[in-house]
Amino acid sequence: MRVGVLTGGGDCPGLNAVIRGVVRKGVQEYGYDFTGFRDGWRGPLEGDTLRLDIPAVRGILPRGGTILGSSRTNPLKVEGGIRRIKENLGKYEVDALIAIGGEDTLGVAARLADDYGINVVGVPKTIDNDLSATDYTFGFDTAVGIATEAIDRLHTTAESHMRVLVVEVMGRHAGWIALHSGLAGGANVILIPEQRFDVDQVCAWVTSRFKASYAPIVVVAEGAMPKDGDMILKDSSLDSFGHVRLSGVGEWLSKEIERRTGKEARTTVLGHVQRGGTPSAFDRWLATRFGLHAIEAVRDGDFGKMVALRGTDIVRVPIADATAKLKTVDPALYEEVGVFFG
Ligand code: F6P
Repeated sequence: MRVGVLTGGGDCPGLNAVIRGVVRKGVQEYGYDFTGFRDGWRGPLEGDTLRLDIPAVRGILPRGGTILGSSRTNPLKVEGGIRRIKENLGKYEVDALIAIGGEDTLGVAARLADDYGINVVGVPKTIDNDLSATDYTFGFDTAVGIATEAIDRLHTTAESHMRVLVVEVMGRHAGWIALHSGLAGGANVILIPEQRFDVDQVCAWVTSRFKASYAPIVVVAEGAMPKDGDMILKDSSLDSFGHVRLSGVGEWLSKEIERRTGKEARTTVLGHVQRGGTPSAFDRWLATRFGLHAIEAVRDGDFGKMVALRGTDIVRVPIADATAKLKTVDPALYEEVGVFFG
């Protein structure tokens, strides 16, 4: 048995831990051989491979990024893409494929499994934590830790200058990173994509925080939108899955706050620092377990499935279930943290 492995979409801390878990268990317990495909779906599409064996996965557990490389290549948009993937899997004698990715990568994996009969097992990853069917994705805990540390640091500089500090965090159309890091970091305002915000209300919270002689920290998710108006973007280019590049709302909001309150404001856009570097212990734990269970699914011939965390158990669910609907923040949960605003 030869198993192909690829990592697609935005990278995230913990990808290497999955690869290590898959290869270690696959070689040691099942005697499988592996082929790494480079740069997500580009690898099987173009037949670009990498040696993947136990020496190749030594020492990678704490390393961020992915030894396989990643990309947002969408084979469904490439002429003859599926045929080329099938031909290359045949050429390299790959019997099954483990696709580690988020909504887009797993969306392709579901189509390959359900419509084209390719033996695929999915592993969910994303710092955004927006995949249905799993309680958490790895990468999220690390991103929240990085954002929380940044907020802790911004408190002291904001207070020294009595300024507003607006922190823009990632998360695409889900507010999980903003909500968790904002709560953990003691932000005075948290704005998420799931609830449009009222700039006047934000300014009222900012003003009341100054009245209490503290400097306000406003955490804004990159996908958050004002009540009246559209998504605020610096750049409107699309990737091959049709996603726009988010970012810009933080800078816009700082300017609005300055204009409406007369207080000085600064913006910190955390950007890709949230995705880089070593994974947290929780993400290493989750990613490793996902890897061990993914190769077990291959051994069982349970294709078209994705491994998922439910409580403390790892279960298998149809890949299509994970991509059918985004997991967004429940309004009741957002309301719960509102007690700290202002
Ligand atoms: O999906 C993960 C993510 O980091 C989002 O939070 C963010 O909007 C996007 O990827 C950024 O993508 P890129 O690395 O292509 O700029």
